[in-house]
Amino acid sequence: MEIVFATHNKNKVYEVQLLVPKHIKILSLEAIGCFDEIPETAGTLAGNAKLKADYVTQNYKLPCFADDTGLLVESLHGAPGVLSARYAGEQKDATDNMDKLLAALENKKNRNAKFETVIALNLNGQQILFNGIAPGEITVTKSGVKGFGYDPIFKPEGYDKTFAELPIEIKNTISHRGKAMKKLLDYLNKLENQ
Ligand code: IMP
Repeated sequence: MEIVFATHNKNKVYEVQLLVPKHIKILSLEAIGCFDEIPETAGTLAGNAKLKADYVTQNYKLPCFADDTGLLVESLHGAPGVLSARYAGEQKDATDNMDKLLAALENKKNRNAKFETVIALNLNGQQILFNGIAPGEITVTKSGVKGFGYDPIFKPEGYDKTFAELPIEIKNTISHRGKAMKKLLDYLNKLENQ
């Protein structure tokens, strides 16, 4: 089975590829010749995931899934949330985003946060949503070079290392996206065994 993962983020494709069994082939947007910047104009994670999946279904008529992720910080009332990619501006720069968040949390005792992912799967004319949450906290400084985005400042619950210090195999078992993908794969597995 071939299925499109509607993202231009190579890190996400790499993470997800490690999770899927060999008989499922993940096609990136580049692999199907899609170089468009798909609009993410909805006000919710689910809304943006649907927009991205629907864009591929409508324009390429292929089975596809798309994710949208937000980092929700408790003492910032859930910010940056759905605006996580553009937190420090339209340049969507990971270092700028982390620096802005570390500054916003300066002197804050409560550093609790969670990543939340919603995946929209478009298959056989149906749309199904899967979600995944990874609780943790924002560190005081950046640590680690693995991963992407906010990984160097996010310490998942139960670990004393950031996502950027943990091997990808560990991140995948506890991360927001890994959990949502597991639900999606369980769903596909059930379909195949029907
Ligand atoms: P989007 O889902 O690609 O729109 O991501 C929203 C923001 O969250 C971007 O700034 C991403 O870099 C960041 N992000 C998404 N997933 C992760 C992750 O697994 N770790 C760290 N940052 C992430």
